[in-house]
Amino acid sequence: MYPSIVPSGYFQCKNVQEYGKMSENVHLKSDEKQLYKGSGVRRELDRRFSVAPMLDWTDKHCRYFLRQISQHTLLYTEMVTTGAIIFGKGDYLAFNQAEHPVALQLGGSDPTDMARCAVEAQTYGYDEVNINVGCPSDRVQNGRFGACLMAEPKTVAQCIESMQASVDIPVTVKSRIGIDDMDEYQDLTRFIETVADAGCNTFVVHARKAWLQGLSPKQNRDVPPLMYDRVYQLKQEFPDLHIGINGGINTLEQTAEHLAHVDSVMIGREVYSNPYILAGVDQLFYQDSSPVKTRIEVVQAMLPYVEQHIADGGRVWHVARHMLGLFQGQPGGRIWRRFLSQNGTQKSAGVELLTNGLDALLEAQTKAHQFQAEGKPSA
Ligand SMILES: Cc1cc2nc3c(=O)[nH]c(=O)nc-3n(C[C@H](O)[C@H](O)[C@H](O)COP(=O)(O)O)c2cc1C
Repeated sequence: MYPSIVPSGYFQCKNVQEYGKMSENVHLKSDEKQLYKGSGVRRELDRRFSVAPMLDWTDKHCRYFLRQISQHTLLYTEMVTTGAIIFGKGDYLAFNQAEHPVALQLGGSDPTDMARCAVEAQTYGYDEVNINVGCPSDRVQNGRFGACLMAEPKTVAQCIESMQASVDIPVTVKSRIGIDDMDEYQDLTRFIETVADAGCNTFVVHARKAWLQGLSPKQNRDVPPLMYDRVYQLKQEFPDLHIGINGGINTLEQTAEHLAHVDSVMIGREVYSNPYILAGVDQLFYQDSSPVKTRIEVVQAMLPYVEQHIADGGRVWHVARHMLGLFQGQPGGRIWRRFLSQNGTQKSAGVELLTNGLDALLEAQTKAHQFQAEGKPSA
């Protein structure tokens, strides 16, 4: 019932400063912060469950938000190209220390550039660097990286060698099960073998092939059929490698089923559209039964972060756009999404967008509750 998700004092506490104060006690515990602090003590990376790299979606704001829901999930950045890191003017690698454990995904194929960027990643404090061998977009193909590298295992192997010679953090690969007509199981094993021989021991495999011509990147995430058995077979054939699976996984129950066959599960779109799915991850897959924030506590925990972002010249929408799905499937969830979308993109929108959004949500929930109590169908 809705009242159980409303923290005590919510109705008495309407201004932003007070929300901020309320949220202090739901921030990361200080000992956890230390464990993940950049250099120095590092918790061993446990990638049993991860959120997929997603361009334009898993930016630093999104990751900070997701971290409020699960402490252990490994979060991947969007793909960042070596060109952007080496020649770009922006700070593409910046992230918040609270995001750990966090992995940088790199797009590139020049071993020297990849090594240089891996060093940057390590210097910034990333916990892992991952090579994108799965993106099928034309732009990426023109740059000779992404999924087309499945046809060039030796190039990927050279990248692995030069990156591993330059950094101590793990260097991993995210691939497909095949591309175009190079889609036999033996093509996949040849790729894995060559790259593993170069020293890579961790692969996350999107369990569908990519068509490099004729399908858009979006279609390439849905049209080619999922072949989970191929990934399971990989694990059987290469038991010493860490083999993770990705693609079309939508629930933690499915995750648990996959974990009976492979070492880790990566979820992308479902986490983005329904982020609170992460609430069960720490307990189910990391045996950590620390209390999990309610959805409302998650919003409260975001307030100081959003205030800081705005103080630094950013806009609330940069952060709020990732929070639209937080109340998915909950009473008032659509009201929350609509409120944020309709009011969040204005330049003048401030952190009160989120508190007002909560008010709108709670009002809708109260009404629904009243209707229910009176035995009327809810609106
Ligand atoms: C908007 C969007 C952007 C993506 N960007 C990347 C990317 O930068 N690097 C990458 O390896 N995969 C990217 N992907 C693919 C995902 O990482 C993942 O492999 C794919 O969505 C399948 O997993 P899912 O069914 O759990 O979403 C992207 C997917 C989406 C939806």
